[in-house]
Amino acid sequence: MKTQLRSSRVVIIGTGAVGSTTAYTLMLRERVSELVLIDANKEKALGEALDMNHGLPFTGGVKIWAGDYSDCADADVVVIAAGASQKPGETRIDLLKRNAVIFDSIIQNIVKYNDHAIILVATNPVDILSYVSFKKSGFPSNRVIGSGTLLDSARFRYLIGQNKKINPRSIHAHIIGEHGDSELPLWSLANVAGIGLEFSDEDREEIYNSTKNAAYEIINAKGATSYAIALALDRIIVSILQNEASVLNVSTLLNNFNGVSDVYLGVPCVVDRTGVREILDLQLDDEELKKFHESANKLKSEIAKLDL
Ligand code: 2OP
Repeated sequence: MKTQLRSSRVVIIGTGAVGSTTAYTLMLRERVSELVLIDANKEKALGEALDMNHGLPFTGGVKIWAGDYSDCADADVVVIAAGASQKPGETRIDLLKRNAVIFDSIIQNIVKYNDHAIILVATNPVDILSYVSFKKSGFPSNRVIGSGTLLDSARFRYLIGQNKKINPRSIHAHIIGEHGDSELPLWSLANVAGIGLEFSDEDREEIYNSTKNAAYEIINAKGATSYAIALALDRIIVSILQNEASVLNVSTLLNNFNGVSDVYLGVPCVVDRTGVREILDLQLDDEELKKFHESANKLKSEIAKLDL
């Protein structure tokens, strides 16, 4: 589906695999009228913008350029995809120290020019860096969103679809918690047309492990993940810009969500023009609750090490 929106500007900070593929996805789908690429390596942003501009005769009228932070002034959404990414064998949490440092200046630069945009964080560890962005920007939490477990939920739906031989678009299923090793599946909510799905214990284990380890597998094979995360970011951006109110498992600030507060985690949220309009009132069972609290505590102990 192509959707040309009213005049809208998305700024993407970081033009590595995720940032540039997200820009390309937005361009192909003609989601925005203006797309600005910013990178600490200006040459890289210039090259990506030029390459995409040469594709415009084959697509539509998106204006794309390599810019600087002053271009954030008119941004509706600022996507942060800058920073180190995982090398084979590294976890997302291993990136925290390196990436938290660069977020200091990125957030300062955004808020210097813009006090109304929605900040969408994709850099890992995404939940913690979303929390860092919330704290450092001073923006209300509804306007600081992490890509969360939207991608993990897509991987989960794909794998369930493979198992059940049903198109993943017709599978409804959710992964919540950390976008990372402590994420958890909500098996009881997995359904097709509202009808619950049955799985053997072996299938559950295999589907969950493949979901959780998908990024490791892809990074080992091709060095980075890019296409599916770009589509997930596109989905969030469109839900914001079109005021869709779609339910997406993004990372958001929790305030007594199943007893968890003051941490960002992926949970089902209604996403519209205001950002995260509301978090759905999901009641976890005892086992899910235990795992969700473990996920929250893991991230909180990492946050406690940061200077916020
Ligand atoms: C992913 O899950 C690496 O977080 C990235 O694809």
